[in-house]
Amino acid sequence: MLKPFTDQSSRPSQEPGWDEHLSFGYRETDALWLTRWSAGSGWEPGQLYEHQGATLELSPGANVLHYGQAVFEGLKAHRTREGKIVLFRPADNGRRMRSSAARLAMPAPPIDTFLRAVEAVVRANVRWVPRTGKGSFYIRPVLIGTGEVLGVAPADKYLFFVFGSPAGQYMGGDRVIVLSAAHRAAPHGTGAAKAAGNYAACLRSQKIAKSLGYTDALYLDASENRFIEELSGANFFAILRDGTLVTPQLGSILPGIVRDSILTIAREQFGWLALERKLAIDELLSDAVEAFYTGTAAVLSPVTTINYHGVDHPIGDGKPGPRTQELLQALEGIQLQEQPDPWGWVTEVTL
Ligand code: COI
Repeated sequence: MLKPFTDQSSRPSQEPGWDEHLSFGYRETDALWLTRWSAGSGWEPGQLYEHQGATLELSPGANVLHYGQAVFEGLKAHRTREGKIVLFRPADNGRRMRSSAARLAMPAPPIDTFLRAVEAVVRANVRWVPRTGKGSFYIRPVLIGTGEVLGVAPADKYLFFVFGSPAGQYMGGDRVIVLSAAHRAAPHGTGAAKAAGNYAACLRSQKIAKSLGYTDALYLDASENRFIEELSGANFFAILRDGTLVTPQLGSILPGIVRDSILTIAREQFGWLALERKLAIDELLSDAVEAFYTGTAAVLSPVTTINYHGVDHPIGDGKPGPRTQELLQALEGIQLQEQPDPWGWVTEVTL
C-alpha cells in the first residue's frame, strides 16, 4: 500500500542520537518517490509517497518475479560541515541506470526525471541525512518490470521508485577470498549492468566467504579463471611495486562511479600512472604492495589479505597502505566539499 506523502512540518523531530551508530541497512524514512511506465502511455509524472509502512503490490505474473527484470542504483547525500546537503555525481547514476535498463530491454526514466526523483526524496527526508562524519543518506533508485508475463518476454509495465536510508559503512573488512569455482559474470553477459540478478549470483559465494571469515569473495574472469574482476558489490584496485595503480578494465564488471573517480583523482590530481587492464591473480599476489575496493556504499576500503587456493597472502606488509589512505582522503574531501572539486562532481540540493 502506498499513501501520498503529506508535508513533514507536523512530523516529530528525531530522538537525539538517532545517527550515533549507523549500520548499512534498510530503514524506513519519511518519503519515497514512485512513478509507473506503461506501453502506450510512457512515464507518469511521479510523486512522493509515505515511506513508513510502504509496500508494493505486484501481480504474481510480474516479470521481475520470474525473469528478473530489475536494475538499481546507489548514491549518497552527505551533510557538509557548513550544513549543505550534497550529492556525488548523481547524473552518472541516472546514465548508468539507462544503460543497465537497455541491457535488460527495459525503458528507463530520463536523466532529468531520475534527478528530480532523487532530489525530491532527499528534500523530503532531510532530517534523516546524518551529521557530517556520522554516515550518509544512501539513496536507492530501483526499476522493475511489473507487467505480467508467462513466456520469456519484456514486461509492458514498469515501476521506478527511489527511497533512502541513513547508512554507515558497508562491508569495511580487509580480508577477501578468491573462490575460483564461481564467477560473477561472463563476457557479453550482464556484468556491466547494475542488474539485481548479478547480485543474486554472488550471494552463495559471499555466504561462503563470510563463513570462512572473509569480508567478501573476489571474483576471477569466467573465460580463463585467472584475471581479477571485482567483489560482490565493489570494484577492485591494486598498487604495484613500481607505483602503478591498476584496476580491471571495463567489460564484464560494474562501471563504478567511485572507480572512475579514483582513476581520475589518481591521474589528474596525483599524477600517478593508473591503468585499466587485465590483472592476473598471480601478478596481484606477487607484485601488489597495496590493494583496496571501492563502491558508493563501500567508499574505499583497504584489502590486506587475499586468500587463494586455501592460502592467506598478505598484501604488502599486511597493513592498510599510505596511498590507499591518500586516495580515500582525496575522495572524501571532494564529496564533503572540503577540497576543491575540479570535475564538478558535487551538486548541492536546494532545500
Ligand atoms: C553501491 O555501492 O551503492 C551498491 O549498490 C553496492 C551494493 C552491493 C550495496
